Amino acid sequence: MQAIQSYESPAKLILLGEHFVIFGAPALAVPLLDLTTRVTLRQVNAPGAHLGELSWAPATDPHPRHLEAKQRRQARGLLEHAITRVAPNSTSGFLLEAHSSIPLGYGLGSSAAFAVGVTVTLHALLNLHPDASTLSHHAHALEKMVHGNPSGIDEAVVLKGLPLSLRKGEATKLLKLSSPLSLVLASAGSPGSTREAVARVAALREHAPERFASLVAKADALGEAGIAACATGNLCALGALLDRAHALLQKVGVCPPRLDDLVQKARQAGALGAKITGAGLGGFMVALVPPERVERVRAALVASEGELVFSTVVPATTGKT
Ligand code: MEV
Repeated sequence: MQAIQSYESPAKLILLGEHFVIFGAPALAVPLLDLTTRVTLRQVNAPGAHLGELSWAPATDPHPRHLEAKQRRQARGLLEHAITRVAPNSTSGFLLEAHSSIPLGYGLGSSAAFAVGVTVTLHALLNLHPDASTLSHHAHALEKMVHGNPSGIDEAVVLKGLPLSLRKGEATKLLKLSSPLSLVLASAGSPGSTREAVARVAALREHAPERFASLVAKADALGEAGIAACATGNLCALGALLDRAHALLQKVGVCPPRLDDLVQKARQAGALGAKITGAGLGGFMVALVPPERVERVRAALVASEGELVFSTVVPATTGKT
């Protein structure tokens, strides 16, 4: 019988600090456990990297979408790279399948979930038992192929499946959540390229270094205040921080008008705060919402032509984590 391994990774959501994390501010991120990517890897006789079915279907739409030729080429490249790193002398080959409910390229960690899934299943198939930092190192190398020079927050949250904060170059820290976070998300129907968004922000920094440094300092203060608000369960304070973070992201030019509009609509419908999440240029906005107002905010986003609208709850962390 052929050896086979499967692994399911969650999506991630950045609460605070995207983009500014690359320049030293903290990023705060949580896993979204209801959205997942399942990677299945089989050992096969023919050497090399082989692809089976690769598809994704958002929870709001049961019909799976198959990856396009370009995305399949990228997936094969990632698997080849993982094999070169983890099993350079393997005489057998590997057949990959992946099914995801994480929208691809919408800032919810689809590439990190894929990178982590490939890394974990490949080690498991080869009966290797790496420690968490080795897994993270390999997953990070795959993320680099997709995004250029990522901060590491995405794959860290996906791999640990826990809320985390990260300052680039430092070890991740568990993010204490004293209250569950009730969230409503909506997209404006188009993905965004992380690589392009990161390049746009880097160009702004080049062009206006002093102004940019003052934005990073503000993001730093928001991140620290966010860690404190999460720890005390002060959701009103956290909501206000999300609003201020959105204003900073507007200043670096990654908030398209349609997502700005959805952010406004969520606030008007009673959200405690709202912002885009992830690299921007497309993708999702997220609103922090008191549980009793979730349906109202959700309906407002649908009425404003938000797409892939869904709500989710991030559980409070327990003492054990
Ligand atoms: C992407 O999910 C988050 C960014 O901050 C990039 C990164 O941290 O690598 C935009």
